[in-house]
Amino acid sequence: MTEISESGSQRILTGVRPTGPLHLGHYVGALENWVKLQSDYECFFLIADYQVSDHAEDLPRVRQSVLDVALDWLAVGLEPEKCHFVVESSVPEHAELTTWLSWWTPLGMLQRNPTLKAELSEIESSSSKRSAPLAFFNYPMMQVANILMPKAHLVPTGEDQQPHIEMSREIARKFNTIAGRDIFPEPQGLIGRVGRLVGTDGQAKMSKSLNNAIFIGDSPEDVNKKVRRMFTDPNRIHATDPGTVEGNPVFIYHDAFNPNQDQVDDLKQRYRTGKVGDVEVKDLLSEAINSFLQPFHERRRKFTANTDLVSDALQSGSRYARSVAQETMSDVRDALQINYFK
Ligand code: TRP
Repeated sequence: MTEISESGSQRILTGVRPTGPLHLGHYVGALENWVKLQSDYECFFLIADYQVSDHAEDLPRVRQSVLDVALDWLAVGLEPEKCHFVVESSVPEHAELTTWLSWWTPLGMLQRNPTLKAELSEIESSSSKRSAPLAFFNYPMMQVANILMPKAHLVPTGEDQQPHIEMSREIARKFNTIAGRDIFPEPQGLIGRVGRLVGTDGQAKMSKSLNNAIFIGDSPEDVNKKVRRMFTDPNRIHATDPGTVEGNPVFIYHDAFNPNQDQVDDLKQRYRTGKVGDVEVKDLLSEAINSFLQPFHERRRKFTANTDLVSDALQSGSRYARSVAQETMSDVRDALQINYFK
C-alpha cells in the first residue's frame, strides 16, 4: 500500500513533453483520468521542458508548445484552482534530484527500457538521420525525479510510460534502503480506458510525429478530413463485402468516442454483413468526435481570449511545486548527509 503524504491527501504527479498540441490518444490514455482525479488528489501536472532535447533545434517551438499544452489542459477541463500546472524548468531541483538518483541507477536499466529503445530508434531512423543527444538517453531518469519529487503515489499516463513508472518504483525502493527510512512512496501507474490509441493510418500508436493524429484543438473540418482518409478494413473493396470490425481503427474510435451505443452496434452489425458503406460509418464517426470535442473548443476560446489566465496558472503552480521540491531536496540531502555547512 502507498503511504499517506504529510498533507493528509495522496498526490499525483504526471506530465507530458511539450512537443506539440495534444491529441485524442493523450485524452483517452491519460487526460480523461486527470480531469476525474483532480478533485480527489493533490495533483501536479508537469510540462517536461527539460525532456525535449530531441527538439533542441527548434527551441521557439518548444516554448510555444509549453503554452499550447497548458491551453489544451484548460480546454479539457483541468482547473488550476484544483491542481498545479508545473513547468519543469521552473523547478530546477528536478535537475539536482536527477543527478543524485542517477548514482543508484544501473546504466543497463536505461539500456533495457523498451520505450526509450523504441524512441531512440525512431529518432535515429528519422529522415533527418539525427543522433540522439545524451540528455535524451537520460530523460526516463529525469521522469523518475519528477515523480519522486512531490512523493507522488499515483501516476496516470498512457501505456507507453509504464517502464518509466516501474523504474520509479525500483529507484524509490533503492533510495529508501540507502536512506534507512521511507522517503519516497512507491508510485503506482494508472492507465486510461484506451492505453494506446491506434493512429488514423492504422499504425499502432497515435502520434504527432507519425502524422496520424486527431488533435484536441482540431476544427470540425479538420476532423472530417482526417476521418474521411482513415484506414479501415483493407480487404473490403465494396460496401457489399462483409467487413472486419475487430482491430478496425474506425470502430476502435467509435467505441472510444461515440456515446450512442445502439448506433455503434447497428453499424458494426451492418459492416460485418456488408450492409453499410465506409462513408456512412465515417460520417457518423466525424459527428461523434466533433460533438465530443465541442465543449473543449468552447473552453479553449475562453482561455485564448485571456492568455494571462494561462500564464498565471503556470506561474502559481510552478511556484508551489518548487516549494514542495525544496522540502524534498532537504530530505534527500539529509539522507545522504551532504549538509556540509550546517
Ligand atoms: N515522458 C512522458 C511523455 O513522453 C512525459 C513525462 C515527463 C511524464 N515527466 C513525467 C509522465 C512524469 C509522467 C510522469 O509523455
